[in-house]
Amino acid sequence: MLLKKSSFIALLLVFVACQIQVSAQVSAIKPGEVWPDNRGEHVQAHGGGIIKIGKLYYWFGEDRAKDNDPAKRYVACYSSPDLTNWTFRNKVIKTGDPANFGKGFVLERPKVFYNKKNRQYVMYLHMDSANYKAARVGVAVCDKIDGDYKYLKSFRPLGEQSRDIGQFVDDDGSAYLIFEDRAKGFHIAQLSDDYLSVEKEICLIKAPLEGGALVHYKGLYYAIGSALTGWDPNPNKYATATSLSGPWSEFKDIAPPETNTYGSQSTMMVKVVGTKSTTVIFMADQWRPKAQWDSRYLWMPLEIGEGKLWLPKPQPWKIDVKTGEWKYTDEK
Ligand code: DGJ
Repeated sequence: MLLKKSSFIALLLVFVACQIQVSAQVSAIKPGEVWPDNRGEHVQAHGGGIIKIGKLYYWFGEDRAKDNDPAKRYVACYSSPDLTNWTFRNKVIKTGDPANFGKGFVLERPKVFYNKKNRQYVMYLHMDSANYKAARVGVAVCDKIDGDYKYLKSFRPLGEQSRDIGQFVDDDGSAYLIFEDRAKGFHIAQLSDDYLSVEKEICLIKAPLEGGALVHYKGLYYAIGSALTGWDPNPNKYATATSLSGPWSEFKDIAPPETNTYGSQSTMMVKVVGTKSTTVIFMADQWRPKAQWDSRYLWMPLEIGEGKLWLPKPQPWKIDVKTGEWKYTDEK
């Protein structure tokens, strides 16, 4: 009886330890490392995007978990009050081929916009055939942020090829889709009132760039993109303009070119406006094409201002989303 009781207590302790382990707080953003969510699993939000609703940030991205059905494609949604600790909410898309893209169809780089007028969440996706020749965007909608999104349609924005997509919401609330058209370049296009279609070309930057991202910071627009090298990293570049419609400056390196952007590829820039400071975070993917579930994230605060932008050498850091301030940390 005594033995049974002690085994029971030991088991209980192991159970409690596991619970503590799973719900442990993540103390810092650690570029290139496994990023555990509230369940202790590596965040699956590759090629992702972030929107803030109320006090929470929501991170959407490609869910490439190892045990996903290989015939389906998944998008996951996570939420966080501090951009550091992420709670898994839902696999908001889990779909077979929705429109005959064929075997090995592509569903990448989900980006969610909130349409205030219709109180609707509108997701844009890069949808494609396995050989990337269909080159379309897909649209899916939901009336709650982390519900199951309903696939609506796919099309070529403004009749053009579209591969990597990015999202940008300007300070005046206007929403834009960034899309890469191999034949022409980097498009910035405004969405319709209901966000369900791509309405108007604002600018075509004639540069072969994908992984497009934009931020509006202290009166200047900054655009970032990567070269077209598949899953391999390359030196990402930036340009600036006083208006979204251009003219845009020449593109310059964001990091020492020999580092290939520290092995990463841009997906978004997140502007955190705090009470004391504004921080712009470079959000990028370190792809592992042979083990995509283990692809890592490189998030770093950018050195930005007066037309210059620079990605510091990645190392662990912390952000206070209330003040907007960040600092490096040695905390484990
Ligand atoms: C680079 C893109 O940025 C990725 O999203 C993905 O489409 C790969 N190319 C595929 O090679």
